[in-house]
Amino acid sequence: MKMKTKRMLAVITALCCMAGTVSCGRTLPNSNDDSDSSDNSNEFSVAGDEADGIETSEKEEQLTLVPRTTAAPKSAETVATDTAETSNPVSLVTRSKEEIDKIKNNKKTTAAAKTSKTTKAKTTAASTSSASSTTTTTTTKESAETTTTPQTPTIQLSYTSAEIVAGQTKAYAIVSGTYDEEWSTSDANVATVDQYGNITAVGEGSCKIRVTDKNTKEFGEIAVTVKKMQGIQQIDGITYVDGVLIANKTYALPRSYNPGGLTPETYNAFQSLVQAAANDGYSLWNASGFRSYETQEQIYNNYVYTHGQATADTFSARPGHSEHQTGMAIDVNNPSDSFNGTPEAIWLKEHCVDYGFIIRYPEGKQDITGYKYESWHIRYVGVEMAKKIRDKGIEIGNYNITLEEYFGINSKYN
Ligand code: DAL
Ligand code: ZN
Repeated sequence: MKMKTKRMLAVITALCCMAGTVSCGRTLPNSNDDSDSSDNSNEFSVAGDEADGIETSEKEEQLTLVPRTTAAPKSAETVATDTAETSNPVSLVTRSKEEIDKIKNNKKTTAAAKTSKTTKAKTTAASTSSASSTTTTTTTKESAETTTTPQTPTIQLSYTSAEIVAGQTKAYAIVSGTYDEEWSTSDANVATVDQYGNITAVGEGSCKIRVTDKNTKEFGEIAVTVKKMQGIQQIDGITYVDGVLIANKTYALPRSYNPGGLTPETYNAFQSLVQAAANDGYSLWNASGFRSYETQEQIYNNYVYTHGQATADTFSARPGHSEHQTGMAIDVNNPSDSFNGTPEAIWLKEHCVDYGFIIRYPEGKQDITGYKYESWHIRYVGVEMAKKIRDKGIEIGNYNITLEEYFGINSKYN
């Protein structure tokens, strides 16, 4: 309870400061606030009331605690083939619950007709007017009873092959038809798949991702190739350097890039980090995680209006340039200068690498990152990469090494 009260006070303080009131005891432009409570309503989802030990009212204002995959379960209802998806065989982001619901609602009728058609092919019992749900149910059952284990794929997917980058991207295939879906991988060392069909690339190689109907044993397959990225590459307008997604002043994200929340890896790593901090007696929380292009646009424009563009550019990213749009950045506790030097900030700096995070805008590196020191802004790059970056910094005596220095890239607006 004490912790809850403490958190609530911090949130209220942060919100007051964001609104530019003087009650928080500091005034802009030194705040560097880059969070915005308004983005929480449509982009953040929160698990059950007590799931994170925070009261509901506070959660509504504050947190991004549920990763997109958890928020995007597919029901047994049909998700119809999406034309855009078909024409672009690799979907680099998973879909949010809202997107899936929309697809389902828009295409339910079409999907029902397709399902009926597929079922009809297996039985001769279906009449041409079998679009009614009663007929569909009956024929599906008959099919289940009479079908032997199929040898070839019969479940249609919006794509059947995908090239993914190790450790970074996920793909989600839309299943055309109603099935009791079960997803599996032929090689978990290459790629894994969750119960909703989101694919995570693990290591170089090839494997098959399969969706099987639990009853009929019909299946659909995706041939997955996982590659290791070297150097600067662009996929669908997104820049990767050695497989690490980059969003800075030089490299922008497309407006449409929207992972719908924190990536599952980021979410899980942050949970572990919060737990480790708690074990050491520190309370850390997510004050601002994923922010869409549109949300960042509002935040940035507001800062330009209140501070002028030159100052705003020192602490707030232009839309498309914010790491928050990647779903891999989190502002911890209190996104303001007053967080600098606190025991929590010191703990974060010392331990975040162990959980795959880096302090993205270190002290004294404004000329390189393009932003003032942000002790609260952490970026997930994975444990291996985070350690590589730290070790490189130690090796060359550059203890606050930035991602830009590590990769030899710039961060400057054109
Ligand atoms: N405060 C960081 C730079 C952002 O706006 O993303
Ligand atoms: Zn931030």
